[in-house]
Amino acid sequence: MKPRIEASLWGRDFGNPLMLASGTCGYGTELLEAGLLGDAAALVTKATTARPREGNAPPRIADTRFGLLNSIGLANPGAEQVVESLLPEMAFAPCAVIVNVAGETLEEYRRVVGILERSEVHVGYEINVSCPNVSAGGMAFGTDPACVAEITRLVRSSTGRPFSVKLTPNGGDIVEAAKMAEGEGADAVTVCNTFLGMKLDWRTGRPVLSRGAGGYSSPALLPLVTARVWQVASAVGIPVIASGGVWWGEDVLELRAAGASMVQLGTAVLRRPSRISEILLEMRTLLEGS
Ligand SMILES: Cc1cc2nc3c(=O)[nH]c(=O)nc-3n(C[C@H](O)[C@H](O)[C@H](O)COP(=O)(O)O)c2cc1C
Repeated sequence: MKPRIEASLWGRDFGNPLMLASGTCGYGTELLEAGLLGDAAALVTKATTARPREGNAPPRIADTRFGLLNSIGLANPGAEQVVESLLPEMAFAPCAVIVNVAGETLEEYRRVVGILERSEVHVGYEINVSCPNVSAGGMAFGTDPACVAEITRLVRSSTGRPFSVKLTPNGGDIVEAAKMAEGEGADAVTVCNTFLGMKLDWRTGRPVLSRGAGGYSSPALLPLVTARVWQVASAVGIPVIASGGVWWGEDVLELRAAGASMVQLGTAVLRRPSRISEILLEMRTLLEGS
């Protein structure tokens, strides 16, 4: 396919493929107030759970030489509060809103979507299956294709809105997980969440993050994410949303060439919100010169 800026997903035409990644733009309210959402096609909110969660104890973010480690622990105000006060603030946002959903049990996913269905603001969901499955000893749901299938089935039966299942790169077979999500009615898969990483203080031998390990995000992830997007896009017929490793406009074009319909910006926007517009400009300049 000829490289281009235009992008579409779920029957909706977007001016460009740029989505803001979950956990790196809150619920969009601050970026909206600062007038920074005009060039984004969509934003994905922070992971939302049934009850409010304070998240992990600090430190829960650590910078490393080449990227960021986080173990926020799904801090969020809970689905009721999101429906009552945060989503209404985004009703007139210039970009589409997608709510990221998380849970500690399979049933929690259904509960959260059930509560969120009361809002008309968001166009769909991103289902984060990288959460630890509490009843299975904390292994992420997404590492078990049967759990991915079950969560997808539960969500499908709870909403008519489109949703993407956000897959984990940490264990399990991501292609198999994507096929399971497609088979149970997901409308897209997001490839992928952060990579497991750790930073140690060599003096004490102790991890810098309070939880020990965390999720690593960095422009250095681009080739790892590109390979996974390529593999998954070759194996499923539903759209693939790329997430991970973007810093430049060129990275977005590369992920689109690998088969992504839309491309998420995470750490880049967290570090510098003006990257949304800058990346779009870089893409335009590259395409004009190609
Ligand atoms: C501070 C932080 C918080 C995050 N929180 C979530 C989250 O709540 N749900 C989720 O699905 N992904 C979460 N992510 C992962 C991002 O959405 C994204 O997939 C990942 O950072 C890779 O993209 P990047 O390299 O562009 O940052 C988080 C990432 C960061 C850096």
